[in-house]
Amino acid sequence: MRILVTGATGFLGSHLCKRLLQEGNDVAGLGSRECDLTVEGSLQRALAGRKGDFDEIIHLAAWTQAGDFCLRHPGEQWLINQRINTNVLSYWKDEQEQAKLLFMGTSCSYDPALSLREENYMSGVPIESLFTYAMTKRMLYAGALALNKQYGMKYLCFVPSTLYGPGYHTDKRQMHFIFDLIRKIIRGKLHGEEVVLWGDGHQKRELVYIDDFTSAMLALDRRCENELINIGEGQEHTIREFAGMVCDEVGYDFSRIKFDASRYVGAKSKCLDISKLKGLYPEYRPTPLKAGLSATIKWFMQQAWEKG
Ligand SMILES: NC(=O)c1ccc[n+]([C@@H]2O[C@H](COP(=O)([O-])OP(=O)(O)OC[C@H]3O[C@@H](n4cnc5c(N)ncnc54)[C@H](OP(=O)(O)O)[C@@H]3O)[C@@H](O)[C@H]2O)c1
Repeated sequence: MRILVTGATGFLGSHLCKRLLQEGNDVAGLGSRECDLTVEGSLQRALAGRKGDFDEIIHLAAWTQAGDFCLRHPGEQWLINQRINTNVLSYWKDEQEQAKLLFMGTSCSYDPALSLREENYMSGVPIESLFTYAMTKRMLYAGALALNKQYGMKYLCFVPSTLYGPGYHTDKRQMHFIFDLIRKIIRGKLHGEEVVLWGDGHQKRELVYIDDFTSAMLALDRRCENELINIGEGQEHTIREFAGMVCDEVGYDFSRIKFDASRYVGAKSKCLDISKLKGLYPEYRPTPLKAGLSATIKWFMQQAWEKG
């Protein structure tokens, strides 16, 4: 297949592009350097001569980070992500109407008071601290629904829990909790630094291993269209449990960790209902958490060793 991937340089994009290439696809992967999606017409210019050429567009690009980033940048997030998504939707309609659009939603779009089932994705109010980011993802979904309704264009929207695995960012950006936790515990072990984790440690989170996510994405792509589908491990763990597992793997004494309950931690609990995923993809067998964490920690250790 001929596939255009936005956000190809990101954590998910780099894993996915590698996989798509291994499977023999013709992949046009774009990051912001090749094509700034906030600029109207940038896709048309970057891909001149390829009108009507793609079988799929996989739209991963988004401007966000973890931690309290969304809390501190709501205005910018609205403007930037709305521009990115509108430009991608316009390009899809104007130049690649035949292509199926695969794109990412977010579990933050769910109202925490409702169960995290697909039919609730557009209902209620997302958590205040992630409201803007969540609403830009809802708007992207609304845009795909509208183009499907008027022109019959095909889409698939994936809603993941937090992705983890080797190959995450090593720059100064704010990391998703699991990477931050691994980084702090490794540094605690290597440099004898005190490990302080945000929150009281009782908040629960669900992860999905990056390779499980890309496998599920591609399997669902072969089986369905015009759906929104949650993809997670199907169970959540407390931050204390995650920290305990990381400590075991790294060899750091868990009792030395301090929990700072005054720091921002987001929702108390977040676990996707994955019954739709299991129905559509019954072979789905998520990587056991211990194995996924072990691979991720080995990768982190390698980075720490290479950086000295
Ligand atoms: N990671 C998760 O746990 C998670 C969970 C839920 C949903 N998602 C969604 O999944 C998608 C991929 O996530 P990720 O973790 O791979 O994100 P990421 O590592 O932050 O990558 C973001 C990508 O978007 C590109 N991008 C940002 N601004 C752009 C612009 N103005 N023009 C063109 N490209 C731009 C970046 O390009 P540069 O590298 O050039 O900056 C990068 O390739 C996102 O839509 C995200 O919202 C992720």
